Amino acid sequence: MKEFTRIEHLDDLDTESKYLVHKAKEATSHAYAPYSKFLVGAAVLLVDGTVITGVNQENAAYPSGMCAERVAVFTAASLHPDTEIKKIAVVARKKSSKELTPATCCGSCRQVLLEMENKQQKPIEIIMQNHDHSWIKAISAAALLPFGFTRANLEK
Ligand code: THU
Repeated sequence: MKEFTRIEHLDDLDTESKYLVHKAKEATSHAYAPYSKFLVGAAVLLVDGTVITGVNQENAAYPSGMCAERVAVFTAASLHPDTEIKKIAVVARKKSSKELTPATCCGSCRQVLLEMENKQQKPIEIIMQNHDHSWIKAISAAALLPFGFTRANLEK
């Protein structure tokens, strides 16, 4: 199976993914990003249809901040520990604009998604906007993070 699908326009995304992108975009207005002014929103869809959003949380001590994806995923895991995650969408915009600007998941968020995916033993689909403004659908965190570090490394 193809690991990545490239979709030129948001309108051409499937209805569920488009809805999730919409929820992520809505959430950007809650981002706390006074330093970068780069507002990121993530929306996680659980298998029971629940949507949990998260936004980036910056800090005057810069490394203490947290990405939107991890805020969303950790919230989902805290509130619904036994419900699998089906999909996550991430979007961003500059504070000065209502239009989306590309944002692809950082390495640490990919690592966290990989852990969740291995925990639930079911792939998590990831929707994000590529640098050329097209949309990327990845079938799993493993696809986004080849050679990722897992519990298997610790058990060897
Ligand atoms: N950020 C995210 O929230 N998610 C990403 O995938 C990339 C970066 C945030 C972190 C920081 O608050 C701001 O964007 C600029 O790096």
